[in-house]
Amino acid sequence: MRSILVTGAAGFIGSNFVRMLMSRGEDVKLVVLDKLTYAGNIANIQDLIDDEKLFFVKGDICDAALVEQLWTNHAINQVVHFAAESHVDRSILSSGPFVQTNVVGTQVLLDVAKAKGVDRFVHVSTDEVYGSLPEDKPDVKFTEETSLAPNSPYSASKAGSDCLARSYFHTHHLPVMITRCSNNYGPYQFPEKALPLFITNLMEGKKIPLYGDGMNIRDWLYVEDHCDAIWTVLNKGTPGEVYNIGGNNEMTNRKIVETILREMGKTWDDGVQYVKDRPGHDRRYAIDASKIKRELGWEPKHRWEQAIKTTIQWFKDHQDWWRAIKSGEYLKYYDQQYTQR
Ligand SMILES: NC(=O)c1ccc[n+]([C@@H]2O[C@H](COP(=O)([O-])OP(=O)(O)OC[C@H]3O[C@@H](n4cnc5c(N)ncnc54)[C@H](O)[C@@H]3O)[C@@H](O)[C@H]2O)c1
Repeated sequence: MRSILVTGAAGFIGSNFVRMLMSRGEDVKLVVLDKLTYAGNIANIQDLIDDEKLFFVKGDICDAALVEQLWTNHAINQVVHFAAESHVDRSILSSGPFVQTNVVGTQVLLDVAKAKGVDRFVHVSTDEVYGSLPEDKPDVKFTEETSLAPNSPYSASKAGSDCLARSYFHTHHLPVMITRCSNNYGPYQFPEKALPLFITNLMEGKKIPLYGDGMNIRDWLYVEDHCDAIWTVLNKGTPGEVYNIGGNNEMTNRKIVETILREMGKTWDDGVQYVKDRPGHDRRYAIDASKIKRELGWEPKHRWEQAIKTTIQWFKDHQDWWRAIKSGEYLKYYDQQYTQR
């Protein structure tokens, strides 16, 4: 049986990833290392913790002694590295934790993997490392050859870790594969991120805060498709390669808001409040994911029209989960981000 270190699996995508592997009955032991920051939530995997296939450790990826100990105690032979500070807006308020976790934390994992040995190491990066695309050239998309040009402290720290991961393959022959995915949505997404923020605000009788003119474009992928793509790369990817992952689903923020309003029976006037734009807000992201389809046979299975309904229903059915988060520190952050500016 493989022993896979999964970092950050109490967060949004990592928890969906371990949930997917457990529900498929994969023959794996999953060693979950998560610091449980404000974004990490043990409730996301609580129902899996008693399973003998999953071993949870609360700890920091920057703690080299702890990571080494996990390697020794659990005979780790594969890594899927999700753990990160992940919210662009928070990186604008304070970038220190982003450099620490995303750059230094990744370096620690790579160094321990090098010292102790690893069969495969998937570094979960993001399309944001590529910077922004022109709006007037809809045919231009990010390919794996596009130069990295990150524009936010978050994407800069992810680009730093992405480059470190690349360098450990080239210099040390560590079997690293890098994935760069577009925006995800789905169950367990922390409600400071756009879609769950919009959905839960409407459920609370609040408005959706829409940045700038609402015309920024992102590609949106249902989280289960991202998890399946990462599993595909872990199993079939070629070490040293980068794989873009996307939904072929470009939309403006306005279009997203219109869909959510319609699904939740609200009007634009009832439900939307324009707020000052995010500083340095990238205008357009679009992913060319033809390489992973061509080489590894992966493509998304979920369509936006249905998956957004499933996502809204999940938030309706799990109000205890998100209402517990939208209190305390969250409210202070929300006030600073959307009210005081
Ligand atoms: N959410 C997206 O749309 C998206 C898209 C592309 C790539 N990604 C990447 O996917 C990964 C997961 O994203 P997410 O949206 O699930 O993030 P998230 O913020 O929901 O979860 C991050 C998890 O990492 C943990 N963590 C943070 N710092 C840690 C540390 N020092 N040590 C151990 N654990 C720590 C947190 O407690 C949390 O559980 C990130 O690397 C992110 O850059 C996300």
